[in-house]
Amino acid sequence: MSQDSTGLPGARYTSQTVLDKVVWVPGQLCSLRVTRDPDYRFTPGQFARIGLPIAGGAESGPTPEWRAYSMVSRADEDALEFYSVVVPDGKFSPALASLVPGDTLWVDKTAFGFLTLERFVDGEDLWLIATGTGLSAYLSMLRDPATWQRFSRIVLVHGVRHSGELAYRAELLDLVARHSGGPSGLLTYLPVTSREATNPFLFNALRPDLLSPARITSLLDSGELEERVGLTLDGARSRVMLCGNPAMVTDLRAMLGTRGFAAGRRGAAGNLAVENYW
Ligand SMILES: Cc1cc2nc3c(=O)[nH]c(=O)nc-3n(C[C@H](O)[C@H](O)[C@H](O)COP(=O)(O)OP(=O)(O)OC[C@H]3O[C@@H](n4cnc5c(N)ncnc54)[C@H](O)[C@@H]3O)c2cc1C
Ligand SMILES: NC(=O)c1ccc[n+]([C@@H]2O[C@H](COP(=O)([O-])OP(=O)(O)OC[C@H]3O[C@@H](n4cnc5c(N)ncnc54)[C@H](OP(=O)(O)O)[C@@H]3O)[C@@H](O)[C@H]2O)c1
Repeated sequence: MSQDSTGLPGARYTSQTVLDKVVWVPGQLCSLRVTRDPDYRFTPGQFARIGLPIAGGAESGPTPEWRAYSMVSRADEDALEFYSVVVPDGKFSPALASLVPGDTLWVDKTAFGFLTLERFVDGEDLWLIATGTGLSAYLSMLRDPATWQRFSRIVLVHGVRHSGELAYRAELLDLVARHSGGPSGLLTYLPVTSREATNPFLFNALRPDLLSPARITSLLDSGELEERVGLTLDGARSRVMLCGNPAMVTDLRAMLGTRGFAAGRRGAAGNLAVENYW
C-alpha cells in the first residue's frame, strides 16, 4: 500500500480537528480535545498514535512525525482528549502544543497498549502511580464508572516537580469528594512534589507535617507513602500500575518486586502493570 504525506498508508489513519485547548502551565503543559472518528475504539489506559507535519529546515518541506499519547477521555465520549508536556527542543510536543481550535492532526485508526485494568483479574485496592503526564492514562480509567465497581479503595499518586504541574487537580478533588462515603473514602489522591513542598491546601492533607519535597520512590522507601495513604501495599490485595518517567518505573518496579509485586506472565495473572513514556 502506498504512503501519503503522513508517512502512513491513507487507510491507516483519520484526520481530526482540534476542538478545545486548556493550558495548565504556559509553554509546558496543555490538554487538547479533538474530534473522534465514530469507528475509533479504545479501552481506558490505551494510547493513540498522533501525527503532525513537522516543519523542516529552509530547504526541506514538512515531514510527518508520529507520537504516542494516552487517551484522557472516557471510552464512550464523542471527542478524544490528550494531556501533553512540552519537551524543550522536542521534535513533536512543541508543535502539538501550538495547535489551536480548528487545526488538523492525524490519528492512527488503531488504539494501542496494555496498561488497562484487564491486566488484573482480581484485587481489592488499586494503586495508580504516575509521574508527570503519566497521569493521562489513569484519567480515562477514573472517568469510567466500571472502574469504581471493581475496587474497594483507589489510590492515585501523582509525582511532579512543582505544585503548579498538578493538572486536573480540581477534577480529582471532585472525584475524591464524590466517592467519600466510607470511613477512609474510596479515592485517595496523593500529589507528591519533588522540587518544592506540597501545599497542604491542594488536597485533603491529613498530615501536613509530611509534605516536604519528595520523590514517590523515597516516600515508598521510608514508609511515608503508605502512612500518608493509610493503606499497606500488599501483594495479595493491592494491584499497582506505574506510568510515566522510565527511571521511576524501573526504580519502583525493583522496590515493589521485593514486596511480591510482578507483572503477569503467560498463564499467570500479575499484580503490577507498567508503561514507560520514553
Ligand atoms: C505509550 C506512550 C504513551 C505516551 N503518552 C503521553 C501522554 O499522554 N502525554 C505526553 O505528554 N506524552 C506522552 N508520551 C510521550 C510522547 O509520545 C512524546 O515522547 C512526547 O510528547 C515528546 O515528544 P517530542 O518529539 O517533543 O520529544 P521526544 O524526542 O519524543 O522525547 C525527547 C525527550 O523528552 C523527554 N520526554 C518525552 N516524553 C515525555 C513526557 N511525556 N514527560 C516528560 N518527559 C518526556 C524524554 O527525556 C525524551 O527522551 C507517551 C509515550 C508513550 C511511549
Ligand atoms: N516540569 C517542569 O517544571 C519543566 C520545566 C521546564 C522544562 N521541563 C521539561 O519537560 C520535560 C518533562 O518534565 P516533567 O517534570 O514533566 O517530567 P519528569 O522529569 O519525568 O519529572 C516528573 C517527576 O518525576 C520525578 N522522577 C524522576 N525520576 C524519578 C525516579 N527515578 N523515581 C521517582 N521519581 C522520579 C521527578 O523528580 P525530580 O524533580 O527529583 O527529578 C518529578 O517529580 C523534561 O524534558 C523537562 O526538561 C519541565
